[in-house]
Amino acid sequence: MRRLYIETVGCQMNMLDSEMVVASLRKQGYEITTDPLAADTLLFNTCSVRQLAEEKTYSALGKLKKHKLRHPDKVIGVMGCMAQKDQKLIFERAPYVDFVVGPGQLAQVPQLIADTNAGQAHQLAVGLGRRDGSVGEIKRSHETFDPLRDPTMRPTPYQAYLRIQIGCDKFCTYCVVPNTRGPEQGRPPEQIESEARVLADQGCKEITLLGQTVNSYQYRTEQQTTRLSDLLARLHDIPGIARLKFVTNYPKDMTDDLLQAVRDLPKVSPYLHVPLQSGSDRILRLMKRGYTVAEYDEMMERIVATVPGHAISSDFIVGFCSETDQEFEMSVEAIKKYRFKNSFIFKYSERPGTRAMDNLPDDIPHEVKQYRNNELLAVQNAISEEANHAFIGQTVDVLVEGPSKKAAKQADSSGPLVQMTGRTHCDRIVVWEGNRRQAGQIMPVTIYEARAHTLFGEVLTEHCGPEVFTVESPLPLA
Ligand code: 5AD
Ligand code: SF4
Repeated sequence: MRRLYIETVGCQMNMLDSEMVVASLRKQGYEITTDPLAADTLLFNTCSVRQLAEEKTYSALGKLKKHKLRHPDKVIGVMGCMAQKDQKLIFERAPYVDFVVGPGQLAQVPQLIADTNAGQAHQLAVGLGRRDGSVGEIKRSHETFDPLRDPTMRPTPYQAYLRIQIGCDKFCTYCVVPNTRGPEQGRPPEQIESEARVLADQGCKEITLLGQTVNSYQYRTEQQTTRLSDLLARLHDIPGIARLKFVTNYPKDMTDDLLQAVRDLPKVSPYLHVPLQSGSDRILRLMKRGYTVAEYDEMMERIVATVPGHAISSDFIVGFCSETDQEFEMSVEAIKKYRFKNSFIFKYSERPGTRAMDNLPDDIPHEVKQYRNNELLAVQNAISEEANHAFIGQTVDVLVEGPSKKAAKQADSSGPLVQMTGRTHCDRIVVWEGNRRQAGQIMPVTIYEARAHTLFGEVLTEHCGPEVFTVESPLPLA
């Protein structure tokens, strides 16, 4: 029996990639260990979206230096966006790393491990850069990796991510993703549908379709073009699937056919993550986001007019190159106007290989970025809390995920009543005192208290108490 340790940071796409790699290694006889020192193979699935994520990975690798010197037979691999971005630099900074594998080469991981064990050092398996070949060659060098699904590999067997698209062609000036994950490519609808059917047969009730700009999804053949709305209609008919979500949306591609599909297909969550990034037209132009605030506004009006019961969330970057106080205030005003369900707020982080790094100075001091981050978060949290208060007294349908993270850590969590967590159709986190048998059910929970990120409920037939939890979410896709 060989033991695998895997550490995953970053977005949902990375979580799915890790799930796939683990499943393929399990087929080869690996078992998972949470102790890096007990593992034979150690994999780091990395993120490059912000510098801090990279620094954390390099520091985690640094901690293994002595261990690897003492145990040269241990295999250390770096995968994900930082692998594609830094490539050989990883071997320079951490020479004891055995292989570096990009997100488009994950099918090669078992072979890379085998070749390392056979004595090969410093293997590099990455995709072509965006200027290193014809479009066809570059696309072929970034392959999606979606082998057979294994329900035991997911945090809960009732929920799954399903990749419908890889890569990104938007080239926002701050973002590494078009470089690290290559050109945008949609997966064939038949493949997506058959994977969704496998998931449904495994007892999965909620599927979240993943793409960096998921609503730009298109799959063209000579006969027809399949859009995201068509795909949702197709997946909607699969028995067993109760909920369909999709992330992340690009504002310019929020077409009416998609909004109508969200309105008309009851299994599709009326929850849309559509990052605005900034409330200032000048900053949006510098970011090359491809829309103005007025165009985002027009999109929001169409959502409001078309989708009843909608919930919208956003991402913002604060302290982008040359952002003035007035321009930052425009982001504050945008959050107040659109009253997002929640927003993920990021301090601008200059990234090598991006147009912003090449052309725009990163001139906002860290303290100013931090201040703006805190301010925006405070405004958003107040709005989220106010909106959540409206749920008090209401009963919501919750897909039960299982015991909350906090409950899972508690020594006495084996008793009949444990703190359970789940989500509403609109992706609101709900916690209540329940029991493990509820996991996987969609059940009514009555809300008695609300915070910015959590609704506290009770299942009316059972005893409950007001406990406080925090439930972590992964980084959203860009
Ligand atoms: N600096 C800060 N935030 C970034 N994001 C992407 N690139 C950067 C960067 N260089 C944010 C965007 C995106 C989210 C996933 O991460 O808001 O939507
Ligand atoms: Fe693509 Fe999103 Fe990055 Fe823009 S922010 S380049 S849309 S992944």
